[in-house]
Amino acid sequence: MASKSKFQAIRGTRDLLPPETALWNHAEQTAHEVFSTFGFGEIRPPIFEPTELFARAVGGDTDIVSKEMYTFEDKAGGVPDPSYMGPADYLNEIKRAMNSGQVPDDPSVITQLELQLENYNMRSDAEKARLIWMYFVRGLRLGDSISLRPEATASVCRAYIEHNMQQQLQPVKLYYMGPMFRRERPQKGRYRQFYQIGAEVLGGGDAPAIDAEVIEMVMTFFDRLRLAGVELEINSIGHAADNCRRGYVEKLRVALEQVKVQLGADSQRRIDTNPLRVLDSKLEHEQAVIEKLPRIADHLCDECKTHYFAVKRQLELRGVIFKENWRLVRGLDYYMRTTFEITAKGLGSQNAVCGGGRYDGLVELLGGPPTKGIGFAIGEDRLILSLQESGKGPATEGRDVYIAWVGERAYATAVRAAKDLRAAGFRVELPPTELKFGKGLERADKLDSRYALILGDNEVSEGSWTLKTLADGTQQKFTEPELLEFLKRPLSRRAL
Ligand code: HAM
Repeated sequence: MASKSKFQAIRGTRDLLPPETALWNHAEQTAHEVFSTFGFGEIRPPIFEPTELFARAVGGDTDIVSKEMYTFEDKAGGVPDPSYMGPADYLNEIKRAMNSGQVPDDPSVITQLELQLENYNMRSDAEKARLIWMYFVRGLRLGDSISLRPEATASVCRAYIEHNMQQQLQPVKLYYMGPMFRRERPQKGRYRQFYQIGAEVLGGGDAPAIDAEVIEMVMTFFDRLRLAGVELEINSIGHAADNCRRGYVEKLRVALEQVKVQLGADSQRRIDTNPLRVLDSKLEHEQAVIEKLPRIADHLCDECKTHYFAVKRQLELRGVIFKENWRLVRGLDYYMRTTFEITAKGLGSQNAVCGGGRYDGLVELLGGPPTKGIGFAIGEDRLILSLQESGKGPATEGRDVYIAWVGERAYATAVRAAKDLRAAGFRVELPPTELKFGKGLERADKLDSRYALILGDNEVSEGSWTLKTLADGTQQKFTEPELLEFLKRPLSRRAL
């Protein structure tokens, strides 16, 4: 007998279930509330975008783009299958599909196909010619390359440009929440589909007060959620000029070359590809070496130094406590000047719950006007994990009222009572089939109900309903209007 196939969520993805989802909703609701008090509006960009957008924004050499993106070809429908026709016919079909817009128009694809067709015609071994032809056409890219978003800053900048937001009052302040995708090695606090709550400020100058206010906003959000053990680290990585970061990176590279033998393979490779990322290393044996390397703070240009100093003063003005960390360089290419990261309690090695920074050149890099920008993204999975670890679990998913009904007439009244109570905002459980009172009360208890409303045919004909408080077993009789009135009273005045 064929075994039944058993489906499971793909590695690195998971189902978020009740009651945990109540905590997710609470965090998201709090973000809506806090961010709107800072004048931010919500943006919901698409979940997939052209691969090129992320390659350009995040950087082709970063781990995110070079190794972790979920990228696929957006295949046009109706493209012929090359197995069913000769090469010349196939070429004509592709030309036709490009002319009609079914396939993105790409003359280089036609040139390559024509070349292959020539080779095909010249080969004497027909079978070999066919195999080579098939191998080639199967590898052809006939669609657009698109990727699931690994982050959303690139999308927000794309939207800013696409919707001419530079013509609105600056700065434009936007926030978002939703899933992101990175093919990382899954572990506690690290998933392949994870969720971010992020915000971006675009346009409107680079006043240090903007940097400080964005940081103040995320700290206020964490404070409102009573997130435990929150620690903010900041740094400035200057800007891309010879008298600033570029000059520093060169000095760093020279210094790294001198200690190369003491470094591991990853760091050795990064000396050439991205020396700044060596500073990120968590390897025990590299720490002492890294501590002695030149520090960026000593190599910032005067403007970046002044900016960084002012950001720190602005944070102090707002009562935001921070620690400076000269090794905080971040793993995305678009950053300049202010960078920051926030850690929280109970997260193990993946303890960064938020990361962000300034990215003044990014909008321009994506084809827009010169625009200043700064923002952050919170890892929502990690935020929830930390809240849970410090005992701030979800509010109970229990019921306010369980309606224990017995009898046909009582049922009709129970349906109406459920409707009225729900309209008044109470969480109500109405059993779909009749249960003996004892069984019903057991269920009410299991569902963590506050009250059981007892409705038998007697209660209905007398118009007097019994409300049982499950915590202490006390009972009280009410008429229908009295009951609603009683339940609506604040808890403190509800003495029975
Ligand atoms: P990021 O540092 O790559 O920055 O990610 C921000 C946060 O997302 C991290 O601190 C972490 O909490 C969470 N995160 C990242 N990868 C994973 C994962 N695989 N599983 C669980 N959580 C994860 C950005 O994404 C930038 N776009 C932030 C930003 C916005 N900078 C300026 N504006």
